[in-house]
This record gives sequence, C-alpha cells and structure tokens, in this order.
Amino acid sequence: MKTGLVGLGLAGSSLGQGSSSAESLDGAAAAEDRQAEKTRVQRFNMSGFAAPPLAKVRVAILGTGQRGPAYIHNLRNIEGVEIKALCDIRPEKLHQAKARLAGTSHDPDLYTGEEDWKKICERDDIDLVVVTTPWYMHTKMSVHAMNHGKHVASEVPAAGTIDECWQLVETAERTRRHLMMMENYCYLPFQLLTLNMARQGVFGDVFHADCAYNTSKMGNNFSKNLYWNMWWLRQYAARRGNLYPTHGLGPVSTIMNINRGDKFEYLVSVDSDDFMMRAHARELAAKDDFFKPFAEETYRGCMSVTTIRTTMGRTITV
Ligand SMILES: NC(=O)c1ccc[n+]([C@@H]2O[C@H](COP(=O)([O-])OP(=O)(O)OC[C@H]3O[C@@H](n4cnc5c(N)ncnc54)[C@H](O)[C@@H]3O)[C@@H](O)[C@H]2O)c1
Repeated sequence: MKTGLVGLGLAGSSLGQGSSSAESLDGAAAAEDRQAEKTRVQRFNMSGFAAPPLAKVRVAILGTGQRGPAYIHNLRNIEGVEIKALCDIRPEKLHQAKARLAGTSHDPDLYTGEEDWKKICERDDIDLVVVTTPWYMHTKMSVHAMNHGKHVASEVPAAGTIDECWQLVETAERTRRHLMMMENYCYLPFQLLTLNMARQGVFGDVFHADCAYNTSKMGNNFSKNLYWNMWWLRQYAARRGNLYPTHGLGPVSTIMNINRGDKFEYLVSVDSDDFMMRAHARELAAKDDFFKPFAEETYRGCMSVTTIRTTMGRTITV
C-alpha cells in the first residue's frame, strides 16, 4: 500500500483538478464542492518544486515576540544566511531580538510601524520572509511577500480559513515562490523515529492515524505579559473548533503521504463546551479589572475532536 501511495503522485489533483472527492458526497454538499473545485484551477504543481539555489539567503523576520527570537537563534550561525531586517510593533521586543545578534556579522534594519512588514516585503534585497506574527496575520503577510518575489517560511498555522489556504496555494503556484509552513513537530526526534519506522514497514499498511496536541494553554493565554495584546485568548473567544491542529496533523500527514499520494477528502468535527476559560476569566476579573472584558466572552470548547477521511479511504483523528 505504501509503495502504491508514493508511486501514484496524486498531489496535483489535491490542488483543484479532481472531482472524485465530490462524487462520494450527497446532494447539496456535493454540488457545492463541485462548484468550489471548479473555481480553483491549478496553475502549477508546487509539490516537489525547487527554486534555483541561492548562494546567500537574505532573511527578514516579521514578529519578534516569543517565536521570532527562536529563528534568530537558529539562523544566526548558519553559513550563507544574512539577517537583513527585523520587524515588530513593540520596539522593546525588537531591540531585545537584535541584541541576540551582538558579536555576529548580522546587522538587520529595524522596523516598528504597524504596516512596515509591507515595506520589508517590497525590498529587493531580501530572499526569504519568516512570518512569526500572530497566526491570523500570516496569510496576508505571506501573500504580500510572495507577490513581491520572496520565499516565505510561515509559522503555524499558515492560514486561518479555507479561503486563506487557497490564497496561499494560488499565490505560490502563480509566483513559484516557496511557502513552507514551519511545522517543526515533523522534525522532532520522536516524530522522525516514528516516520522512519513507518517507512520501514514496522506498522504495516497505515490506514488510520490518531494524533493530537493535547495541551492546556490556560496559563499562557491568561498571562498578561506573554502574548502581544492577549491575542491567543482573543482568538479563543472569537472562534470555535481546533485552532491549532498542525503539531499533531503534520507528522501523521508525512507518514500517510498526504498530498504526495493521498489527500484529505472531508472531515467531521465536534467540540465540547468551554468548562474552564470563562470561569477563569471571571475569577481573575473579580480581582483585576484588566480581565473584565474577557469575563464577558464565550470561549471555544475545551476539547475538539476531528475525524478526517482521505480519498484513499483512510482515516485520521485529530
Ligand atoms: N511551531 C511552534 O512550536 C510555535 C511555538 C510558538 C509559537 N508559534 C507560532 O508563532 C506565531 C507567533 O507566536 P508568539 O508566541 O511568538 O506570539 P507573540 O505574541 O509572542 O509574538 C507575536 C509578535 O508579533 C508582533 N506583531 C503584532 N502585530 C504586528 C505587526 N503588524 N507587524 C509586526 N509585528 C507585529 C507582536 O508585537 C509580537 O511581538 C504564532 O503563529 C504561533 O502559533 C509556533
């Protein structure tokens, strides 16, 4: 089964050509799917695409909160990398980030304006834009960067809606720029070990995978000083469902050759009520006015469970 998956190379059809996914659904839903698929015309198959190599990669980093500095740490000693620009609307974070480059050859320009990320994308001496802002900003930044000829490394999730996902796919295909979603969990030792075992056939034919990112963000999300403008908590209030599926889904997708032989066909998802966040916001608000607006919100459920079916009839639970 695994040999068949690799050999089939169906990645192209996952980007809009195929109609088989719609045929297995019923009635109105199938008609809607067919209509949606018709509007998406694949220009180019980015799967396996390799842009010409660059002797030097000139990098800009958008967002230097928690995550941006981790990229600085990793990139600063890689031969052939030059960190050219850093951008954050909080000057203190920007200067802390730049301080990590003291004693190195990197001397990035600093940008603090709310829209300065556009100026960076429009510079002609940058090759790669690393997007480490809050995730609801990722797509607009990545699309602008690709439209100005830059490759993009986007933190997870790369997009927040299906429409944004299509914007990324279509822009990458049109501009032939790499858009890599930086799903680091695919490259952690345990996950790589599991992938290696799967490829060596230790698990036989993999027809189901169970994955998760079981984490409580209660401490982080209610911290007043961790995330800029409490953006994570605000997303938990503004949306429902699994907001952060890629740490689990990334590694099992590599094992199951998703977009390289198989693809997600459809999913069903259900979430619990919120049993913790509003109550906690109210407890905090009783002692600290800062939390009063958060005490009035309704929040996404504590647990969310999604079952995905692939075109090859396999299943994944997230
Ligand atoms: N892969 C992982 O393991 C991992 C771990 C942590 C975070 N992340 C992802 O990284 C991203 C950033 O998360 P974080 O924890 O660093 O959040 P954060 O709030 O610490 O950092 C985000 C930064 O973006 C800045 N910002 C906001 N608006 C901006 C704008 N218009 N222009 C420039 N900068 C702007 C904020 O000032 C802040 O410093 C998120 O998408 C998150 O999901 C991934």
